[in-house]
Amino acid sequence: MTHSIKWIFTTSHKPNKEQIDKAYKLSKEYKSKYRNRRHIRDIDKENGMFIVERDFTVKFADKNSEIFYHPSISKIRYNNYESSENDYLIKTIDATPEATVLDLTMGLGSEALFMANYVKEVTGVEASFPLYLVVKEGLNNYNFKQEWMKKASKKIKIINDNYKNILMNIEDNSYDVVYCDPMFENPQMKSSPLNSIRQLAVYDKISQEDFEHMVRIAKKRVVIKARENDSLWDKFTFDEKVGSKNSGVYFGVIKIK
Ligand SMILES: C[S@@+](CC[C@H](N)C(=O)[O-])C[C@H]1O[C@@H](n2cnc3c(N)ncnc32)[C@H](O)[C@@H]1O
Repeated sequence: MTHSIKWIFTTSHKPNKEQIDKAYKLSKEYKSKYRNRRHIRDIDKENGMFIVERDFTVKFADKNSEIFYHPSISKIRYNNYESSENDYLIKTIDATPEATVLDLTMGLGSEALFMANYVKEVTGVEASFPLYLVVKEGLNNYNFKQEWMKKASKKIKIINDNYKNILMNIEDNSYDVVYCDPMFENPQMKSSPLNSIRQLAVYDKISQEDFEHMVRIAKKRVVIKARENDSLWDKFTFDEKVGSKNSGVYFGVIKIK
């Protein structure tokens, strides 16, 4: 993706030389600006800045949000699944160790990390540059305590683009599974792990054309997540719809083979 915005890259307070080097390198890579932490201005805090932390993960902060990488709910999902073998996502994607997954809406990457533990590879697509960079640097540098997370994080590739720009260029049957989890039309604001990303996220809706591309490029499954009252269910027909009445979150499944 081309980067028309000039971002500010800096470090946490009292940085070491490696942090400064990394912030400077990132600023060059993304054709943006490096600024010494002591010279950060109020306007930088307002517009947004990327902060290279001591562990080399990258935090994004602006006037509305502060986003840092964390494996988040993937840990709970993993523990639940390991004890009960019950998880709608893992079931609906029909996860196998050979499978490849295209996650079109990677967000904070929690589901990408969770899926990666059960498949060969996950390719994540994220349109928001701050989210993309925080997750990319998080997956590469976060000090994962659990062995499964260390391994899973290495199986994820990330692309910063809008899936609407790239779907048409992907060949037929390129991935076993195409997964899409757009921002809900009627979100559950209460304590959602997604509250932190609401200001930065992209709110695209799946068009008929997007849907047809998803079916074309998937070998086995297309899985789309939405809340019960989202318009997705009126727009498209699925082979299966599973989910929990309690949470109101459902997974629509197209079975290709
Ligand atoms: C509900 S969140 C996904 C959460 C994710 N499953 C997780 O585990 O963290 C939706 C994400 O998709 C991104 N998104 C929405 N429309 C997109 C598009 N057309 N292309 C790429 N990313 C998109 C949003 O910016 C947001 O980060």
